[in-house]
Amino acid sequence: MKFFLRVGFIAMMSLAGASLVGAAAVDDLLAQYRTQSGGTFNTEEGKAAWNRLIPDSKTGEERSCAGCHGSDLRRTGKHLQTGKPIDPMAPSVNAKRLTDPKFVEKWFKRNCQWTLGRECSPKEKGMFLTFIQNQ
Ligand code: HEC
Repeated sequence: MKFFLRVGFIAMMSLAGASLVGAAAVDDLLAQYRTQSGGTFNTEEGKAAWNRLIPDSKTGEERSCAGCHGSDLRRTGKHLQTGKPIDPMAPSVNAKRLTDPKFVEKWFKRNCQWTLGRECSPKEKGMFLTFIQNQ
């Protein structure tokens, strides 16, 4: 019994540790974007940009972040091209979100390129993160 209690305790502490690391990761990224853009980030602006439809320069097809991730970030999204489900983006229902700065940066790069036809500026990334973080 003592053994199980101890294992349970260690498991609990490492979970708590992981979520702390996760929160720190977003804050570090936000601090970095703030320094680069010299501004603060507004959740409402992030939300508007998330849902804004941008016509693709070649096909005219309208794209947005919500196109794959949905407007309600607590729900499962659906990839526009492959139809595959995408786990909810909201950290409130998906604890893995925004915990790995490299993963976030990698997907910002791909998704901004695909959705907007260019990379996102530090200000845009800050806005998106602030919006996602609060979901
Ligand atoms: C064509 C579909 C698609 C579009 C459009 C799209 N994404 Fe994504 N996004 C994905 C996929 C696929 C992943 C990686 C799989 C996963 O994390 O579930 C992902 C992951 C992410 C992540 C990583 C989050 C984390 O920590 O787990 C962020 C941040 C993100 N997207 C932001 C955006 C933003 C901002 C936009 C709009 C500029 C956008 N996405 C548009 C498909 C898309």
